[in-house]
Amino acid sequence: MTALLPTDRRNQYLFPAALASLLFIGSLRIALDNLKNNYHNHEYFGPQSGGYRVVKRPPIRVSDDEIIDNGCNVFEGKWVWDNESHPLYTEESCPLLVKQVTCQKNGRPDSSYQNWKWQPDGCNLPRFNALKLLEILRDKRLMFVGDSVQRSMFDSMVCLVQSVIPEGKKSLQKVPPRKIFRAEDYNASIEFYWAPFLVESISDHATNHTVMKRLVRLDSISNHSKQWEGVDMLVFESYVWWMYKPVINATYGNLDNIQEYNVTTAYKVAMETWANWIETSINSHTQKVFFMTMSPTHLWNWEWMKGDGGNCFSESQPIQKPYWGTGSNLDIMGIVKDVLGRMQVNVRLINITQLSEYRKDGHTSVYGERKGKLLTREQKSDPKNYADCIHWCLPGVPDTWNEILYAVLLQDYRKF
Ligand SMILES: *[C@@H]1O[C@H](CO)[C@@H](O)[C@H](O)[C@H]1NC(C)=O
Ligand SMILES: *[C@@H]1O[C@H](CO)[C@@H](O)[C@H](O)[C@H]1NC(C)=O
Ligand SMILES: *[C@@H]1O[C@H](CO)[C@@H](O)[C@H](O)[C@H]1NC(C)=O
Ligand SMILES: *[C@@H]1O[C@H](CO)[C@@H](O)[C@H](O)[C@H]1NC(C)=O
Ligand SMILES: *[C@@H]1O[C@H](CO)[C@@H](O)[C@H](O)[C@H]1NC(C)=O
Ligand SMILES: *[C@@H]1O[C@H](CO)[C@@H](O)[C@H](O)[C@H]1NC(C)=O
Ligand SMILES: *[C@@H]1O[C@H](CO)[C@@H](O)[C@H](O)[C@H]1NC(C)=O
Repeated sequence: MTALLPTDRRNQYLFPAALASLLFIGSLRIALDNLKNNYHNHEYFGPQSGGYRVVKRPPIRVSDDEIIDNGCNVFEGKWVWDNESHPLYTEESCPLLVKQVTCQKNGRPDSSYQNWKWQPDGCNLPRFNALKLLEILRDKRLMFVGDSVQRSMFDSMVCLVQSVIPEGKKSLQKVPPRKIFRAEDYNASIEFYWAPFLVESISDHATNHTVMKRLVRLDSISNHSKQWEGVDMLVFESYVWWMYKPVINATYGNLDNIQEYNVTTAYKVAMETWANWIETSINSHTQKVFFMTMSPTHLWNWEWMKGDGGNCFSESQPIQKPYWGTGSNLDIMGIVKDVLGRMQVNVRLINITQLSEYRKDGHTSVYGERKGKLLTREQKSDPKNYADCIHWCLPGVPDTWNEILYAVLLQDYRKF
């Protein structure tokens, strides 16, 4: 199954060794959060038990200007400076944020990465309204499934809504591989489920798993999917864990028959396994399914300037010209398009790759964590080796992904 790549393509697979340790941090975090949770959960967010009150409320009103014009492609547009409307929350106003993403607190000198608004060419995104979103989520579960990038979308969504919920009426629980945020008065939950390959793998343990060593079970998904059953809104994502080497160890059928697969081949087979579960288990009338395209990385600054071997470190402005980095693999994109295109169940694509490509300024860089700890002074002074150009600061780019998801949910809500 192994095939050599033409040399000019190899780059896109050869994410630096740093990638492995970054992914590791991402997963270790859950372990750390989990320990912390024992102390903080109740202290900060009040008991999550208590009687559930049935409250009849008038349905929310969705005005015409909150609806996206028919035919407007919200993924085409530009970033505009708007320090009045953005950020939608702050590091201080969201105590739930983990240290890995609070770049200001971690010493980042510039903050303008928080002030950009995504402006589609043909229409406006509705202004995010937490109360409306909670109403849409009433008696429902919204679940984000994927890796640590997807977890930041979950973290962002929680921050976007949590400030309108009074103390004692919200809770954050860690039940590996899930994190669950509950809004009690709405009987609503926003959840994250750790499944970096979507299908089963040896990296599925949320708190203790191998990173350098990968083994994916391309035809097995049921250990995960049984926990996805009946969820009202599912948002899937899987990319960066695949992109470590041009080939990946995997099994298909017999678990003893481990082979190296071309990553694109393996990804396609895994997507088909996933699609098959969706087709046989999702009820389109009661459930919604979304798929996020790949979150771009900014590992090599020669891609957007006359580079000096650097990366996203010290970038403070979005890219202002047409741009697509080699980290966002077009073969993988093609597979996503192809697999979703052939499905009967309506899976909606949230194609955030292009808009996020412009945001070389949005990554945690040296203002995040490595192995569960903030970088030391020495590590910070060595961005070539220590900058994280995969994960994003919050508030930041993942908030925009949620603004788009919100726009779609709002639109759906009005239709019914
Ligand atoms: C917002 O941005 C404008 C233009 O850059 C600047 O003049 C102004 O001081 C900023 N306002 C705040 C509150 O940062
Ligand atoms: C609360 O929400 C769950 C789904 O998360 C739903 O199954 C249940 O029926 C809801 N409870 C009430 C009283 O509506
Ligand atoms: C799936 O679950 C079964 C039963 O709990 C377990 O034996 C198996 O190892 C799991 N598969 C993976 C890939 O974790
Ligand atoms: C993590 O997993 C490894 C191998 O499965 C095991 O040897 C080790 O004890 C585990 N560590 C923890 C903290 O559970
Ligand atoms: C696949 O597994 C074999 C045996 O453990 C190992 O030698 C090889 O490096 C692995 N391949 C990849 C791409 O990780
Ligand atoms: C392996 O992947 C490369 C790059 O995506 C692709 O061009 C090639 O056709 C694949 N080879 C096989 C055998 O699938
Ligand atoms: C996502 O958008 C990009 C352009 O922005 C396009 O090239 C790509 O094909 C789209 N992906 C899918 C799966 O449709």
